[in-house]
Amino acid sequence: MAESQAPAGESAAATILFVGDVVGGIGRRTLLDCLPVLRERYAPTFVVVNGENAAGGLGITPKNADEIFAAGVDVITLGNHTYHRREIYPYLDAHDRILRPANFLRSQPGHGVCTVSNDGVSLGVVNLSGNVFVHAGRPAFTEIESALRQCEAADHVLVDMHAEATSEKVGLGWHLDGRVTAVVGTHTHVPTADGRVLPGGTAYITDVGMTGPRGGVIGVKREQAIESMVTQMPVRFETSEEDPWLMGVVVTASTRRRADAIEQVLMPKP
Ligand SMILES: [Fe+2]
Ligand SMILES: [Fe+2]
Repeated sequence: MAESQAPAGESAAATILFVGDVVGGIGRRTLLDCLPVLRERYAPTFVVVNGENAAGGLGITPKNADEIFAAGVDVITLGNHTYHRREIYPYLDAHDRILRPANFLRSQPGHGVCTVSNDGVSLGVVNLSGNVFVHAGRPAFTEIESALRQCEAADHVLVDMHAEATSEKVGLGWHLDGRVTAVVGTHTHVPTADGRVLPGGTAYITDVGMTGPRGGVIGVKREQAIESMVTQMPVRFETSEEDPWLMGVVVTASTRRRADAIEQVLMPKP
């Protein structure tokens, strides 16, 4: 497929802000409060946000998605909680710029790839799900080839690999090195310290973290999470409101499908 692409390295300057899993109302408010500051600081060409936990910690509603798009977000990606809220199903089919993992079954609502353009530069976005410890109907490492063909013409490509296992994310980063601008990991809600540009020019990080309460246990009120771990009994989980932060990365690129840098963004709600 390399032959069918315009050569990497052609001029195509872009700055991509990618924001990790927005958790509940507190996560949405944190996103909305931080975005103007981040726009001022980085002047991103594109903003991509993982919204799989936007509705009370599980899934996303059309209202949540409309609110995120209204804040100027270009693309929303999702993950294993995509289908928690039924009202999102028709929205996923009707809106190009909200993605569920491309390697879900074709029969499931929605789609996993889109291309957006700003300032004369185009960005393809692919949402993928890992196959270890999370459900996805088809294998990520083979489905990515068809996903990349769908955004072949894009100047830049960002892949959100929503996965539990670090090995799958590291493996996908190496597998796509030199073919896409960035591979960013989501799902664990905990940022990793391994952000770097791989030798072939792909920006990579195993997990960008979440946009939500650091005072909880990956988003859940900590006393409820701990009770469940201590008693081994079912406990009703609510989203923590304590110590909200936005977590993400900024990827800068000056040439086609090649990142110059990846910078972690870890910002308390103003
Ligand atoms: Fe998540
Ligand atoms: Fe997830």
